[in-house]
Amino acid sequence: MKPPHPRTRHHLPKRTVSIIGTGSYVPERILTNAELEKSVDTSDQWIVTRTGIKERRIAEKDEHTSDLAAKAALAAIENAGIDANEIDLILVATVTPDMFFPSTACFVQSKIGAKKAACFDVSAACSGFLYALEIAQQFITSHTYNTILVIGADKLSSIVDWKDRNTCVLFGDGAGAAILRHRGGGHGVIATHMGSNGDLSDILYIPGGGCRFPIAADNLDQRLNAIKMNGKETYKQAVNAMLNAANTVLEESGLNYDDLACIIPHQANLRIIEAIADRMEVPLERFMVNLDRFGNTSAAAVAIALDEAHRTGRMKVGDYVLLVVFGGGLTWASSVIQW
Ligand code: UT7
Repeated sequence: MKPPHPRTRHHLPKRTVSIIGTGSYVPERILTNAELEKSVDTSDQWIVTRTGIKERRIAEKDEHTSDLAAKAALAAIENAGIDANEIDLILVATVTPDMFFPSTACFVQSKIGAKKAACFDVSAACSGFLYALEIAQQFITSHTYNTILVIGADKLSSIVDWKDRNTCVLFGDGAGAAILRHRGGGHGVIATHMGSNGDLSDILYIPGGGCRFPIAADNLDQRLNAIKMNGKETYKQAVNAMLNAANTVLEESGLNYDDLACIIPHQANLRIIEAIADRMEVPLERFMVNLDRFGNTSAAAVAIALDEAHRTGRMKVGDYVLLVVFGGGLTWASSVIQW
């Protein structure tokens, strides 16, 4: 019999995949609800009671998604104690790439000097970080790569309609990153679940800028290049999808909610998090929440929250952590990790 091709490595046992370092970055400029009151017909009271958001970070004009991503990546590299040249693959989950191409991951590679890495972007809106985490996990489990940098980064301020009070109060800019590697000891990603529903693509989307509605004066006049959202329907779908995704991945892991030290959800709306906490019968204190300070940063949200949970000691070695996300597509995903 022919020996297996060394590149496939199918003959080797599957490996567990650990997060060995995390990092995040948010721009310095803080945009408060009080400032938004001056530009659209809204109030601090409405925003806080309907969303839980008090302020968000806004990138400078010349501060691009790849800049936010590279800063988060460098923090994760330092936290993991590795050299950028050890990275085999860079994945950037984003809906606000610097350009259509090259990928934002390629710009990040150049900015952090990860010369050995292959690079590409992942498009799954707010769920992108967990989609990228699962892709990375598959590459490491199969022995294709050893060290992978996964980033969730978005500059939503560049695609928000600042005249639309239904959306402009919700979003912010930022990036979060994780370094993945096989570490052994049984720790790591236990299970991941991903799902999508393309039938509901029109409740949360940006119609313009692609080939369907290209950049053209009439499309720009209609603000087709900005986020459109049916808030109520998105809210309903988010609660159900995140709850189902969490239940599914827990079942696959053989765990229940009492086993979890920390739940890190997508940071879109405090009421969504409260609703899933209530239906899970888990106290809100066990959820990582930072949307009051950063708003909804899309693919970055769960990654920034993961980094904050890690750095503030929310989970100890051996603890089980659940990440659960939801976004445009529709897309959703969940992961259970033993820290
Ligand atoms: O990241 C991807 C996932 N995204 C989400 O999960 C977001 C999900 N949706 C939501 O979080 C909520 O639906 C929103 C926060 C977007 C909206 O909250 P809501 O409680 O669903 O409000 P609504 O859209 O039903 O609007 C209620 C009222 C409306 O006025 P009328 O028609 O009742 O007179 C809106 O025009 O609130 C009004 N409104 C506002 N008022 C003040 C909407 N936005 C604002 C605003 N300030 N910024």
